[in-house]
Amino acid sequence: MSIPVLTAVSDSRWEAEFVSALARGDHDVEVVRRCVDIADLLAAAAAGIGRVVLLSGDLRRLDREALTRLAAAGVAVVGLVRDEPAERRLRQLGVGHVLADDAQPAEVIAALIAAVGTGPVVPGHALADPGAALPPPPRTAADAAGSGSERPAGRLVAVWGPTGAPGRSSVALGLAAELAELGISALLVDADGYGGVAAQLLGLLDEAPGLAAACRLANNGTLDLPGLAELAVEVRPGLCVLTGIARADRWPELRPTGLEVVLDMARRLADVTVVDCSFCLERDEELSFDTAAPRRNGATLTALAAADTVVAVASGDPVGLQRLVRGLGELADAVPGVTPMTVVNRVRPAAVGGGQPELEISAALERFAGLRDIRFVPLDLAAFDAAVALGRTLPETALSSPARLALQSIAASLIGRPTPRPRGKLFARRR
Ligand SMILES: Nc1ncnc2c1ncn2[C@@H]1O[C@H](COP(=O)(O)OP(=O)(O)OP(=O)(O)O)[C@@H](O)[C@H]1O
Ligand SMILES: [Mg+2]
Repeated sequence: MSIPVLTAVSDSRWEAEFVSALARGDHDVEVVRRCVDIADLLAAAAAGIGRVVLLSGDLRRLDREALTRLAAAGVAVVGLVRDEPAERRLRQLGVGHVLADDAQPAEVIAALIAAVGTGPVVPGHALADPGAALPPPPRTAADAAGSGSERPAGRLVAVWGPTGAPGRSSVALGLAAELAELGISALLVDADGYGGVAAQLLGLLDEAPGLAAACRLANNGTLDLPGLAELAVEVRPGLCVLTGIARADRWPELRPTGLEVVLDMARRLADVTVVDCSFCLERDEELSFDTAAPRRNGATLTALAAADTVVAVASGDPVGLQRLVRGLGELADAVPGVTPMTVVNRVRPAAVGGGQPELEISAALERFAGLRDIRFVPLDLAAFDAAVALGRTLPETALSSPARLALQSIAASLIGRPTPRPRGKLFARRR
């Protein structure tokens, strides 16, 4: 039985010639449908009509999203391109079988058969290998993009926490800022699909292209390392930020297919990438029959799945702690096998009945969730209010504040370093 082939070729004359060339002989492939555009192609793929598609690289709306849908339908891909940039783009999108658009029918038939053997395209696959034996990491993200040299893959830390504004964004920014202070290049990625605040916290324009633009380019297969570095704003030496979406209704711009590539590439840009996630872990595919439809919480779920370390942030009061305990169950469902680092933020004695809040909270979390090794950040309105008012980080505005010292210690432990000794006088000056 011959292999059923779909075609979606912009040059309809070439397409017609190819179809009649096939009809003239006895081949292992057969064109079962000539699709007029990407929507037609996706519908044919979803209907299970073809096993492989021959498509033009310049087909309108051919992106990572479309290739993901083709892969989900089990359809392999052969691309036809006019020039080298078009070939590069298709290869970046993960298409392994690419031919010149004037290829001979025999060559095309061989490629179609080979593509079926290889299987459907896994978008983003081309970016998976960040390199092995590499020189020491550069100091800043921009340096990394400019150096042209490969380096070890950086780490990805996703900062999540349940509803109730426990301080996810503050902790994410605080950790990234402290890592930069420790000489580790850090990239803060604001992936909160319910409205990002990183730009506001750092006094940047919140309409900056940032992460949404990076996801768009990645989805089109045109994002590269210098392009990502350009979108990341350097706010301090060693600290860059990819700002998020200012309004919650822009969530479809943080497409998981694009974000996956951005986060993969971010590992080559910074030693540690810290992702600020939203609270909600609900999966909405169950509510929809279209499993490839945009997912409301896709950005958070993608970041959590990609992360090497998940930091779970809770508010240090009875409501916040109870939300954490429930939320950890949802987190375990969303990311099976995850063991988050728990950070209890906004800790103050009065909220847990006085005494030593760290002891009270540790005992409660061990009893109700079996959690140990909790990290604490005290309620420190003076420090956070001053930093937010100035659009700066805690190390810049509140160097010796209790919240800053706590975040510094957590950041150090994230990279396996001891807590830095406080700067300042070792001995009181003699009068
Ligand atoms: N340890 C702290 N002490 C005092 N204020 C804090 C502390 N941590 C965070 N805040 C303040 O709490 C507020 C909410 O913090 P943040 O925006 O980080 O929460 P979030 O969990 O990211 O919320 P959202 O659900 O909006 O994303 C901010 O005004 C922040 O400055
Ligand atoms: Mg937030």
